[in-house]
Amino acid sequence: MPSAPPLTAALTTILLLLFFIKPTISWRPWPSTHPNSTNLLFDGSKKYEGSSEFVELKYHMGPVLTANITVYPIWYGRWQNSQKRIIREFIASISAANSAPPSVAGWWKTVQQYSDQTGANISRNVHIGEEKNDRFYSLGKSLTRLSVQSVIKSAVTATTRPLPINPKSGVYLLLTSDDVHVDDFCNNICGFHYFTFPSIVGYTLPYAWVGNSAKLCPSVCAYPFAVPEYFPQKAVKSPNDDVGVDGMISVIAHEIAELSTNPLVNAWYAGGDPVFPVEIADLCEGIYGTGGGGSYTGQMLNGEDGATFNMNGIRRRFLVQWVWNHIVNYCTGPNALDQ
Ligand SMILES: *[C@@H]1O[C@H](CO)[C@@H](O)[C@H](O)[C@H]1NC(C)=O
Ligand SMILES: *[C@@H]1O[C@H](CO)[C@@H](O)[C@H](O)[C@H]1NC(C)=O
Ligand SMILES: *[C@@H]1O[C@H](CO)[C@@H](O)[C@H](O)[C@H]1NC(C)=O
Repeated sequence: MPSAPPLTAALTTILLLLFFIKPTISWRPWPSTHPNSTNLLFDGSKKYEGSSEFVELKYHMGPVLTANITVYPIWYGRWQNSQKRIIREFIASISAANSAPPSVAGWWKTVQQYSDQTGANISRNVHIGEEKNDRFYSLGKSLTRLSVQSVIKSAVTATTRPLPINPKSGVYLLLTSDDVHVDDFCNNICGFHYFTFPSIVGYTLPYAWVGNSAKLCPSVCAYPFAVPEYFPQKAVKSPNDDVGVDGMISVIAHEIAELSTNPLVNAWYAGGDPVFPVEIADLCEGIYGTGGGGSYTGQMLNGEDGATFNMNGIRRRFLVQWVWNHIVNYCTGPNALDQ
C-alpha cells in the first residue's frame, strides 16, 4: 500500500478502493522464495507434485464460467504482429481438441473438472473475441491498479468498435508491452486478475492483466527462459523465440484458469482470507512437469531445435505451469509421467 496521504473525504474513498483492489491475485512463474505459503505444499516428503493434506481448496458458492468463454485481448502499447499471433494461438489452443498430446487442451481438462452449485462444469470452449488496441498508451507508461480498470473502461465504452459487455462469460485480458510498468510488476507480480467495479467501469467484468517482462524483469516473469544472475542453472531456449511473450503464456494460462474457476473471487479458492485467496494456479506455481516443486520446475520436454516446452497447441509449443486438480488433490498437467 502507498503511505497514507492526508485524509480528506475524497481520498478516503480512493483509499478504500485501493484497499479492496489490493494484491488480489498475483503471481510470478518461478519457485517461490516465500516459504510457508507454499513450502507446506512442496515439502520433499510428499509423493506428488504439490500434494498436500494442508491444501483445503474449497468452493465458496459463487459463479464460475460455465458458458462458452470469450477472451477479449486489449493490446496496450506497442505490439508486433508476431507477438500477437503467439498469444492468440495459445488462447485458441485451449479448446483445440486435435493438437498432439501433451496438449494445451489436455491441460484445460483439469480446469474443466471444476463446477458450480448446479453441477455445471467450466466450459471446454474458450475462444478469442473482439480485440482492442491502445497503441498510444492512453494512460501513460506506468499504470496503477486503478488505471488498469480505466483502460478496460475505455475499451468497452469506445465510440468506435467498443468491446462487447459480457459479464457472464467474457474475460477481458489487458496485455501491456515491454515498456509499461504496472503497480508491483516485477516485484513478484507478473499478472493478476480481478473484476471491474461498476463505479469505475459501469459493469462488473472479470479481467486480468499480464505484462511483457522482456525489458523490465525477464528473470522474474519469463523464468526459465531467463534466470537471475545468481542462479546456478542456465536459462532454457523459449519455444517461440520470444522470451518475453513465451514467458507471458504461462502467466496468461494461470490467470485464465483462475478467472474461470473464481471470476468474482467467491468461488474456488483455498485459505480463509478472500482478500488473499490462494487459487488453482497459485497452488502449482513454478511446476511444469513431473517432480516439480521447491526450486525444480519438473520434467519438461526438449524439441529438436533445443527449445524447452511442455505442451503442444495449434502450430506451436508452449511452456505452461500446471494447475491444481481438486479430485486427486495434487497439481496435474498433460505431460505428467506415470509414476
Ligand atoms: C517460515 O517457516 C520457517 C520454518 O519452516 C520459519 O523458520 C520461518 O520463520 C517462517 N517464516 C515466516 C515469514 O513466517
Ligand atoms: C459454444 O462453442 C461451441 C464450439 O465453438 C459451439 O458449437 C456452440 O454452439 C457454442 N454454444 C453457444 C451457446 O454459443
Ligand atoms: C465436471 O465436474 C465434476 C465435479 O467436479 C467432475 O467430477 C467431472 O469430471 C467434470 N466433468 C468434466 C467433463 O470435466
